[in-house]
Amino acid sequence: VSLGWIVTGLAVLLSGCGTKIKSREGAVSDPIPFSRIKAAVLQPYCLGCHAANERPFLNTYTDVKDSLASIRRAVFTTRTMPKRGDLPEDEQAMLLAWIDQGAPELPEVVTPPPSHERKTIKWADLQKQVFQPRCVVCHFPNNPDRLSDLQDYESARAIVGSLLFLSVASDKMPPPPAGTPEENPNPNKLSAAEKETLAYWVIDGMQK
Ligand code: HEC
Ligand code: HEC
Repeated sequence: VSLGWIVTGLAVLLSGCGTKIKSREGAVSDPIPFSRIKAAVLQPYCLGCHAANERPFLNTYTDVKDSLASIRRAVFTTRTMPKRGDLPEDEQAMLLAWIDQGAPELPEVVTPPPSHERKTIKWADLQKQVFQPRCVVCHFPNNPDRLSDLQDYESARAIVGSLLFLSVASDKMPPPPAGTPEENPNPNKLSAAEKETLAYWVIDGMQK
């Protein structure tokens, strides 16, 4: 199995780990900033008339906040606004949720992609977070079984394909306790966080 293939596999595997930090733009219960209401509702559906021609003017946060009660009435109760028919459902839901939240202004939260939040994994991180606690008890220098020395950068680098295969992809290392039936899950397998550390060390270029 080539290393390139494994790394591609890892990228797919790891992309699942990011779900918890993915932005949830669509979920109306998240705090909605005014800038989003402006871009998704006011700009396309209201400002054609309410920027300068029709009162109330709805250009700024203060304008909108001052007219909140009448906006709610016109859009959701009498349904006379927007003039040319109802807002699409999603925009209605967003506007209503925002009003229910107390019409917060909130600066737009810019969520950088996960790769920017993550610090590069270097050899020292890999040692501290994975190899020292999980591997070197057996994989120490000059061990009697002649296993790879996982305290040594060059040795680890030389077997990176097996490292990924045995510890990330197949859960064979660290080995299960003696007597564990082959088909059982390995209780000693690396945690998701430990796998990430190892995989990212490789993805980040196996830096020393
Ligand atoms: C095509 C022009 C047009 C569009 C688009 C439009 N309005 Fe209006 N709006 C008017 C006019 C004209 C009035 C004056 C009253 C009337 O004619 O019903 C008005 C009145 C209002 C009022 C005051 C009426 C009241 O009941 O107090 C509010 C609030 C309002 N609009 C909100 C909105 C919002 C919010 C949107 C977008 C979701 C919107 N309007 C889109 C033309 C428009
Ligand atoms: C309890 C002792 C033990 C621990 C802990 C352990 N290994 Fe191993 N490892 C072995 C033994 C024994 C072998 C050789 C036997 C085999 O192939 O099953 C081996 C083989 C390997 C091999 C292939 C042979 C070699 O040495 O290059 C790799 C790679 C490896 N282990 C990586 C790891 C990694 C990574 C960890 C920690 C995440 C780890 N091992 C933890 C005992 C251990």
